[in-house]
Amino acid sequence: MTSESNGPRIVRVKKPSHHFSYLIAPSGDYLCSTDGTSLALQGDVDDQAIWDRSGDDFRHVVTGLVVQATHPEVEQRSELLLGGTSINAEGHVDGNAACFTVGHGPEKMPSVYLETLKREGWVALTSILPASVVDGLQRVGCVEAYEGQEPVKVNPIAQDPAVTRATVEPVSLWLARQYMQTRDIKVGHPPGVSSLPPDDGKREVQGWHTDFPYLWGTGDRIPVSAGELVLGMQRNLCVSDFTFENGATRFKLGSHTSNQAPPAEWGVTNDTFRRGHRAEHGLPYGGPDAEVIEAPAGSIVLYDSRTWHCAGVNRTNRKRGAMIQAFIPGYIIPFMDTSATFKAFLSSDVVDQVTEHERRELDRLMVHKIRGPAGMFAITTDAELTQRAREQGGSGATIY
Ligand SMILES: [Fe+2]
Repeated sequence: MTSESNGPRIVRVKKPSHHFSYLIAPSGDYLCSTDGTSLALQGDVDDQAIWDRSGDDFRHVVTGLVVQATHPEVEQRSELLLGGTSINAEGHVDGNAACFTVGHGPEKMPSVYLETLKREGWVALTSILPASVVDGLQRVGCVEAYEGQEPVKVNPIAQDPAVTRATVEPVSLWLARQYMQTRDIKVGHPPGVSSLPPDDGKREVQGWHTDFPYLWGTGDRIPVSAGELVLGMQRNLCVSDFTFENGATRFKLGSHTSNQAPPAEWGVTNDTFRRGHRAEHGLPYGGPDAEVIEAPAGSIVLYDSRTWHCAGVNRTNRKRGAMIQAFIPGYIIPFMDTSATFKAFLSSDVVDQVTEHERRELDRLMVHKIRGPAGMFAITTDAELTQRAREQGGSGATIY
C-alpha cells in the first residue's frame, strides 16, 4: 500500500449559484408540459418537469411555456396561473386554483446528468436537496448542529419525513431507472443516516470494494462480469459537507468498466477489517491513482456499483454524516429485508407528513414483490425458515 503523503486527486464540486424549480401539485406529482401549450402532472422528474424562475414567472425550460405564481419563493405554497387562468390540482387550466409548492430543483437538467452518468459511470447532483431536508437528516444522524445529541431509538424513517424525502429524491431515482434500464428499482437495504467518527489512528478501516450486489473485494456476491447489464447503483448523499479532511469517499472513477474487483494490493475490505491488519499494513491505498469527491451538504453522488471505492479517514474532530443507499433492479434479491422498515413508516406519524407521491415511491422502492402465474405477493423474511437455515448453516456461515 502507498503512503498518504502523495494523496489522491481532489474532485471538487462547487455549490451552485442557480437552481431550477419544480412546481409540485398537492398530490406531490410534478407539473409538466410535453407540447408547450397544455399542462399535466407526472411522477418522474425528467426534463419535462423542470421550470426556471424569473420574478413571479416560471418558464418551462424545454418548451418556453410560462406560468405565473402568486408566491414564487422556494418551499412556498402558491397558486399558479396560465394566461391569467388558475391551474387546478390535476394540472389543468380551468380556473379552479390549487395550492402548489415551489420545489428546490436541480442545478442542471436531468438529461445533462444522465449524459454524464452514462459517459463517466458517476454524476454529482450538487446541493440538490432542499435545506429543510438536509437539516432533518442532520437531526436524525446527530451530526453538525445536532452533534452530541443522543440518537433516538426509533427507526430513522419513522423519526422525520426528511428520511423519506431524501430516499425518494426524484432526479436520482429517474437517473437510476434510466441507467439500470428498468422502472422497477428497489432499495437494497433500509434507509438510514450514518456518521464517520474522527479517526483514532488505530481502528480497522473499510478497504477498497465494489458495492452491492457485486461486493467484489468484500464478499464477492456476483460471480461473473455482468457485461452490459447494470445490477446496482450506489447513492452517497452528503449529510455533512464532504471534504478530504473529514473522510469523503475515495474512488477510482471509471473503474466500473473493468468489471473486476479492486487490486488486493490496494487493501480490499476482505482484508482490511481483519484485526491487526492496519497495524501491520497501514491504511488502504490513498495515492494519486485515486480520487476524492468533495461536495457540499445536500449533494448526491450517484455511481455504478462496480466503481472501486472506500471510505476516507476522518482527520477532523467532528463526525461526518452520510446517507448511503444501494439501488438494485427489482429482479435482484435485496441485501436486507426492507419490509419491517416500510411497516414502521406506515404506522408512524410521518406517513401523514409526506405527499401521496412520496408514499407511492417509497412503497415501490421498499416492497419487494413476486409477480407470477399465481398472482402478486409481497416478499419478506420468514422467521421459522430463518431459524432453520441458521441451525443448518451454523452461526458463522456465509450465504455467498
Ligand atoms: Fe461502498
